[in-house]
Amino acid sequence: MEIIHLSEVDSTNEYAKKLAKEGKRNFVVLADKQSTGKGRWGRVWYSDEGGLYFTIVLDSNEYDPKVINLITPISIIETLKNYTDKELGIKFPNDIMVKVNGDYKKLGGILAELINGYMIIGIGINVNNPIRKEIREIAVSLKEVVGKEIDRVEIFNDFLKRFEDYLKKLKNNEIDDYEILKNYKKYSITIGRTVKILLSNNEVITGKVYDIDFDGIVLGTEEGIEKIPTGICIHVR
Ligand code: BTN
Repeated sequence: MEIIHLSEVDSTNEYAKKLAKEGKRNFVVLADKQSTGKGRWGRVWYSDEGGLYFTIVLDSNEYDPKVINLITPISIIETLKNYTDKELGIKFPNDIMVKVNGDYKKLGGILAELINGYMIIGIGINVNNPIRKEIREIAVSLKEVVGKEIDRVEIFNDFLKRFEDYLKKLKNNEIDDYEILKNYKKYSITIGRTVKILLSNNEVITGKVYDIDFDGIVLGTEEGIEKIPTGICIHVR
C-alpha cells in the first residue's frame, strides 16, 4: 500500500478524503501531528507530536466495510500486544483500551467513514504524545504504560503488515467472517458487562451485553432482548 507521509496536516481523514474523491484508492496518509484531528461524533482528537495519526483508504466494492470495521481494531490490538504485557481490549465499537491500575483507559480510537465507493479508516494511537490534562482521567499513552519511548514508525509498520495480511486473507478466502468476528469477540471488553449506551437520539439504554456482531450489539434490557445497530451508538459506559 502506498504511504503518504506528512509532517503536519489538519486531519489525515480530510486529506485522504480529498485524494479519494479524485479516485485514489488503497493508500495510507500518515501525519506527525494534526491541527484539527477529529474523533467520533464531532469530538476533538488531540494530535500532538509523538502519537500515531493515519488514515487508510480502501475501495468499498473490493472489501466489505463491516468486516474492515472489525479487522482494524483487531490488527491494532495484535500489534500493541507485542509492546506491553498489560491487558488490552476493544471497547465497543472500536476504542482501543488498556488496563492500568485496575481501570481501562483509552489508548487509541478509530474514525471510519463510508462514502460512496470508498472507506476512510482513520486511526489514532497515543504512543509518545503527552496526554492533555482534559483527558488524563480517561486516556493514556503507550509510553506511560510501558515506561519508555516506543518507536512509533515501528508500530505503524507492524500494524500495516498485519492489516494488509488480513486483507490478503479476505481476498483469497483464507479467513471467513466468522473467524474475524470470533477474534473481535476474544478482544472485546464489552461482552458480558452491564452497560449504559448513549444513542444518537440522546436516549440511554441500559442492559447486559449478550453479544456483538457485524451489525450491532445485543443487549438484555428490562424490556427484553434488544439489538442496537453500531451506527447509532455514541458512547458505552
Ligand atoms: C475516536 O473518537 O475514538 C476516533 C479517533 C480517531 C482519530 C484519528 S487520528 C487519524 C485520523 N484523522 C482524524 O482526524 N481522526 C482520525
